[in-house]
Amino acid sequence: MEVTNVTEYQAIAKEKLPKMVYDYYASGAEDQWTLEENRNAFSRILFRPRILIDVSKIDMTTTILGFKISMPIMLAPTAMQKMAHPEGEYATARAASAAGTIMTLSSWATSSVEEVASTGPGIRFFQLYVYKDRNVVAQLVRRAERAGFKAIALTVDTPRLGRREADIKNRFTLPPFLTLKNFEGLDLGKMDEANDSGLASYVAGQIDRTLSWKDVKWLQTITTMPILVKGVITAEDTRLAIQAGAAGIIVSNHGARQLDYVPATIMALEEVVKAAQGRVPVFLDGGVRRGTDVFKALALGASGIFIGRPVVFSLAAEGEAGVRKVLQMLRDEFELTMALSGCTSLREITRNHIVTEWDAPRSRPAPRL
Ligand code: FNR
Repeated sequence: MEVTNVTEYQAIAKEKLPKMVYDYYASGAEDQWTLEENRNAFSRILFRPRILIDVSKIDMTTTILGFKISMPIMLAPTAMQKMAHPEGEYATARAASAAGTIMTLSSWATSSVEEVASTGPGIRFFQLYVYKDRNVVAQLVRRAERAGFKAIALTVDTPRLGRREADIKNRFTLPPFLTLKNFEGLDLGKMDEANDSGLASYVAGQIDRTLSWKDVKWLQTITTMPILVKGVITAEDTRLAIQAGAAGIIVSNHGARQLDYVPATIMALEEVVKAAQGRVPVFLDGGVRRGTDVFKALALGASGIFIGRPVVFSLAAEGEAGVRKVLQMLRDEFELTMALSGCTSLREITRNHIVTEWDAPRSRPAPRL
């Protein structure tokens, strides 16, 4: 059957993938309350469309950290993409580049920064997990920079791995024919089997729990790439991130895979946007599956959004063609949403184009006596 929206790829991926792999991609932490809420919260935001505006030409282009892209829809880092498809991150990189948008490569990719760079031109960011061994980090950042990556997305919500119960039950570990390619030469590319989640044990062994704001400053001493802080959901941390020199903020709850019962990112976005006071761009990821979601995020002040699971699910279903299709469907839906809302450029999308449940009631019908 023809795939007509992004969500449909999830069921196809579930059929195709081994259970351990599908569960790793799909799961959230603990009760998975935030996982559902990331989606549900979008459905509580409604439109206030404007009519009779000439929408015969619509411009979705934007500039992110000085790089012009075709649309404000980008690819979030998701680990271990070769579990989904043999071409893994190569396919994703090609699809992103064909769509004229930015791919973020995970530290835990099954293809290295150099391999991804070799797929051809494209604007790419590198997601960084900070290892206890800072030499490892410094080397990796240098390699990413040399390979032409344009920014670092520093993930700050993972001092320890969230409790993903499916991974514990499945004794999740990286299949033996794959490695975390960026770390292969450093003897950190394999994940031992454990009597819980192999990834949780790997994180406990290698990732630096002492990471703090001073390390955001340290990172700026080892690279000239701008740093996006990924995983901020409060005004307090927004201000600290800007003070620490962040070039941008990604409002993210890690696809609901870390702390359960944090709000949906779309609910946290406006608080962060207000605290940022326009000093740095604010981005969002988490639960974006429709062009209408993209529009809502922009109306609440985001400069762009990132998608995570739709990439791995479409990759599993159809490889590069699947990822291309996801990007095309989101683009088409977003363009249609702009047209039906009366917006011809991203600049024209305003807070007045949506209404949220936390807005003061504009006008209430008089009660009937
Ligand atoms: C992730 N995410 C993630 N984030 C990160 O900083 N480094 C990583 O390696 C990964 N890996 C990863 C794997 C998988 C399978 C998922 C689903 C997620 C989080 C990711 O970047 C992003 O924040 C969320 O995926 C966004 O939510 P949606 O679009 O998946 O709902």
